[in-house]
Amino acid sequence: MRKPLIVGNWKMYKTITEAEDYVAQIKDRLPAKQVAEVELAVPTLFLQSLARLTAASPLKIVAENCFYQDEGAFTGETSPLALRELGIKHVILGHSERRRLFFESDQVVNQKVHAALSAGLCPILCVDETMKRLAEHGQVAWVVNQVITGLAGVSEDQLAHIVIAYEPSWAIGTGKAAASPVEANEGCYLIRQTVACLYGEAAANRVRILYGGSVNQANLPQLIGRPDIDGVLIGRASLDPATFLTMVDQVVAASGGEASA
Ligand code: PGA
Repeated sequence: MRKPLIVGNWKMYKTITEAEDYVAQIKDRLPAKQVAEVELAVPTLFLQSLARLTAASPLKIVAENCFYQDEGAFTGETSPLALRELGIKHVILGHSERRRLFFESDQVVNQKVHAALSAGLCPILCVDETMKRLAEHGQVAWVVNQVITGLAGVSEDQLAHIVIAYEPSWAIGTGKAAASPVEANEGCYLIRQTVACLYGEAAANRVRILYGGSVNQANLPQLIGRPDIDGVLIGRASLDPATFLTMVDQVVAASGGEASA
């Protein structure tokens, strides 16, 4: 069975003080019985202090991005090796905001996937789908292509270290349930089928696929109950610690576990 994964994505919100305060509030209140993994993706600047704060907690700290080289003359970039040294495991790659605002192509995302894997990190590979492209090419062509390009050259063994997130950018940041549970599951199903074509059924059944885009307390229970959705990537609704804890409880309850303390 695939273990549910809940990842809060803070983006460029919060100061370090706010971040430390938030983490202190939740790190000891996560479900005693670990039926789900809980992680927070935070700005690079916060990684070291939050990784220290959570060293003994089930809460794991995630990087929001990294570069595709380990070292060199790349001003302002973050080395995957440096992330690994901090004890970071997961790194979000190919988020739609990186693709749209920082012009990251499918090829660049693929290079990052390889660099992260070589450094011992586990990518959370985001697959986007804009309304424009949906209208022009249909969901199938666009999503499938991003999965194929994002995973190009990745071996079946390496795939075991990758999580894929279906994040239609038309559903991100709206604060509403922009993708219905059926649409969200369809996107995740499509990704799983693509992985099956590339690596076979067994590998596809093992890979965890998250849904992200305006997930909140109201729509989470319906999303997490769908067969191909193994977890969620939560932006805006993860910014408040009480709301985030409630959402963790919702996922745990759906998986038959115990609520947080
Ligand atoms: P949102 O962001 O939940 O605010 O839509 C999700 C994301 O960008 O990962």
